[in-house]
Amino acid sequence: MRLIVTGGSGFIGSNFIRYILNTFDRIDVTNLDALKYGSNSENLKDLETNSRYSFIQGDIADYALISEIIADADVITNFAAETHVDRSISAPEAFLQNNVIGTFTILEAMRKINPGAKLVHISTDEVYGDIADGSFGEDDALKPSSPYSASKAAADVFVLGYARTYGLNASITRCTNNYGPYQFPEKLIPKTIIRALLGLTVPIYGTGQNVRDWIHVEDHCQAVEAVINYGRPAEVYNVASSAEMTNLQVVTTILDYLGKDEDSIEFVEDRPGHDIRYSLDSTKIRQDLGWRPRHNFEQGIEATIKWYTSNVEWWKNLADDKILSPTPWELDW
Ligand SMILES: NC(=O)c1ccc[n+]([C@@H]2O[C@H](COP(=O)([O-])OP(=O)(O)OC[C@H]3O[C@@H](n4cnc5c(N)ncnc54)[C@H](O)[C@@H]3O)[C@@H](O)[C@H]2O)c1
Repeated sequence: MRLIVTGGSGFIGSNFIRYILNTFDRIDVTNLDALKYGSNSENLKDLETNSRYSFIQGDIADYALISEIIADADVITNFAAETHVDRSISAPEAFLQNNVIGTFTILEAMRKINPGAKLVHISTDEVYGDIADGSFGEDDALKPSSPYSASKAAADVFVLGYARTYGLNASITRCTNNYGPYQFPEKLIPKTIIRALLGLTVPIYGTGQNVRDWIHVEDHCQAVEAVINYGRPAEVYNVASSAEMTNLQVVTTILDYLGKDEDSIEFVEDRPGHDIRYSLDSTKIRQDLGWRPRHNFEQGIEATIKWYTSNVEWWKNLADDKILSPTPWELDW
C-alpha cells in the first residue's frame, strides 16, 4: 500500500509515520511537508534509512506537485496545517492559505488525477467552538472562535462537499488536544515542561479555568488508522479520550512531577476569543470502528515529561524567547 502523509514532519504526523512503519511491513510512506516553523527534520531522523520511507519537501497548495505525488497513492492522510491558535490571531492569512487552499488543492488533485484514493483529513475539536455543558456530536453545528479553527472548519466543509459531489472516498477525524513526544515547544504542555526545566515562570492565560480534553498522540494515530481501514466516505469521526482538565490542573500536574511549587505559575492576560471548554462525544468511532484510547493521562504525561527531560538536544535550539513567550498573540510572526 502507498500512503501519503502530508505534514509528516510536524508533531502528530511524525508520530503517525513512526507508528505506521513500526507496526506494518507492507506500507510505503511518502511524507510531503513544506518544513514550516512547526516542523522539524529531527522528528524523523531515525527513519531516514528506512527503505519504506521517503520525504519530499513541498507545499500541499502546489497543484502540480500534489498531482504528481498522489497519482498512484492508495491513501492520503492530510495532517499539513498551520496549527498555532495564538499565531492565527496576529497573522491569520497563512491559515487561510495553508489550511483551506492547501486542502482544496489536494481535493482538486484527487478528483482529477486519482479519484479512487482514500483521503483521511485530520481536523480538530476546535471547529465546534466551546461548550459549557455536555459534549459535541459529529452533526453539531460548526462555530469556530479563532482564525485557526475557522480555517479548519472551512477545510472540513470542502472535504465533505467534495465527497458528496464527486463521490471521493474522504473521511474526517476531529480530535481533541494531543500531547506526547515531538510536540513543538510553543504548545501548552511542552512549553510548560521546558520553561519549568529552564527555571522560568510558567504562564497561564487568564485564570487557567479553560478546559481541554487531552489525548496521547499515539491514541490519535490509532484512530486515524481505524478511519483509514474502516471509515465510511463523507463521514466525520470525533476522537476523544475523555481526560478533561483545566489548564491550571495540567500545569500543576507537570510542576508537581518536576518538583516545582505553584509559585512558578504566572497568570497572564487572557488570549482574545479563548474558548472556555472543548468536549467531544466519541461514541461513533468507538462503536462503529472499534477504536478506543489505550493511554491514561497520568502515565502518558509522566512519559512525556521524561521524554522532554531526556531530549534537551531536540528542543534547545527551537525554544527561543519568542517561542516561549507568555503572550504569543501579541507578537509579530
Ligand atoms: N496538536 C493537536 O493537539 C491537534 C489536535 C487536533 C487536530 N490537530 C490537527 O492535526 C494536524 C497536525 O497537527 P500538529 O499538532 O502535528 O501540527 P504541527 O504544527 O506540529 O505540524 C504541522 C505540519 O504541517 C506542515 N505544513 C504546514 N503547512 C503546510 C503546507 N502548506 N504544505 C505542506 N506542509 C505544511 C508543517 O511544516 C508541519 O510540519 C493539523 O491539521 C491540526 O489541525 C492537532
